[in-house]
Amino acid sequence: MSLLITNLGELLTQDAEHRVLRDAAVVLEGERISWIGPAAKAPAADQSFDAGGRAGLPGWVDSHTHLVFAGDRTAEFEARMAGESYAAGGISVTVEATRAATDDELTRLLLGRVEEATAGGTTYLETKTGYGLDVGHEARSARLAAGVADEVTFLGAHLVSAGWDADEYTDLVCGPMLDAVRPYVRWADVFCETGAFTPEQSRRVLEACAAAGLGLRVHGNQLGPGAGTRLAVEYGAASVDHVNHLSDADVDALAGSWSGGRTGTVATCLPACDLSTRQPFPPARRLLEAGAQLALASNCNPGTSFTSSMGFCVATAVLQMGLTVNEAVRAATYGGALALRRHTGEDVDGRRAVGSLAVGHRADLQVLDAPSATHLAYRPGMPLVHAVWRAGVRVR
Ligand code: NIG
Repeated sequence: MSLLITNLGELLTQDAEHRVLRDAAVVLEGERISWIGPAAKAPAADQSFDAGGRAGLPGWVDSHTHLVFAGDRTAEFEARMAGESYAAGGISVTVEATRAATDDELTRLLLGRVEEATAGGTTYLETKTGYGLDVGHEARSARLAAGVADEVTFLGAHLVSAGWDADEYTDLVCGPMLDAVRPYVRWADVFCETGAFTPEQSRRVLEACAAAGLGLRVHGNQLGPGAGTRLAVEYGAASVDHVNHLSDADVDALAGSWSGGRTGTVATCLPACDLSTRQPFPPARRLLEAGAQLALASNCNPGTSFTSSMGFCVATAVLQMGLTVNEAVRAATYGGALALRRHTGEDVDGRRAVGSLAVGHRADLQVLDAPSATHLAYRPGMPLVHAVWRAGVRVR
């Protein structure tokens, strides 16, 4: 079955040439894009959808979420808004509630959150474990996530589990816990920050997980300056996330990881989290000018960023971080795909590229209820998603 989506007033392809087409059309053939170009030259298809002059762009690629959780942290948020600062320890409140939830409850919550993200235009989504923090509960979180999310990351090293010595807990993460989650996950992550894992413990996690064949990601430089970004680059992580407190050396390391045509470490910015924790925004413009690659992600979680709205993240990146609309949209689509290494070709596991619109890529596309993507920032907070296709299937 083929579908012609036509009469797109503007189409931000986020392809290799960063093309923005006017009066454009796209043909979806099954789960893939089979044609893109001027509407006047579009081939016939089995069905058609008239976008009425609206703007089209790739579905959002949300490369950083923590959706496997139960419980509520409203009180912590209120205290923060009254002046308390965010500390990693709040994670343990969610760990307790998550452990107490049944598989059915967690699955229902997880599905509801994915549905919410899809309604907001997200068509490819990563999520993490990290609210189990013992072997059984981390493995359960990984298994449930694998049934729902496109990518799953092992984050046993989110917080030292209550009652454990930090080094002994790190041994558990690197041994039995890693073995238990391994069948369900493609990635591993570590929260390298004061109050979570030291640089030395983070190294051990990264080495063990790389040895187990997992791709690496790091939570780094969220709450203050530190070693997270440097470790991410040193270990060839696909992404370092948060990056609020970067030194010049950190920026240079991130930019340098892409030099000579290499695929380096993406700097993933989480602006909704920065608002909710009142952290300074990452130096996005400085990173781009230095030659680093950016992603934008929602970081949807109960502690620091309880939203999956990528449109909100894009608006914030434009209004507060100094990105242009096109730069922010690129970071939230192609950038996320790059951070998940799904930006190109077909991977070993046969998946199509996401995050940009080109022939052969997965047919993940959204049409905005607006004539241009500029409206995402010009009309922040408005429900601008008109239609969404995921792998060629209309999901909204
Ligand atoms: O990315 N920084 C660590 N992890 C989450 C917060 C998790 C929580 O507080 O529950 C984050 O912000």
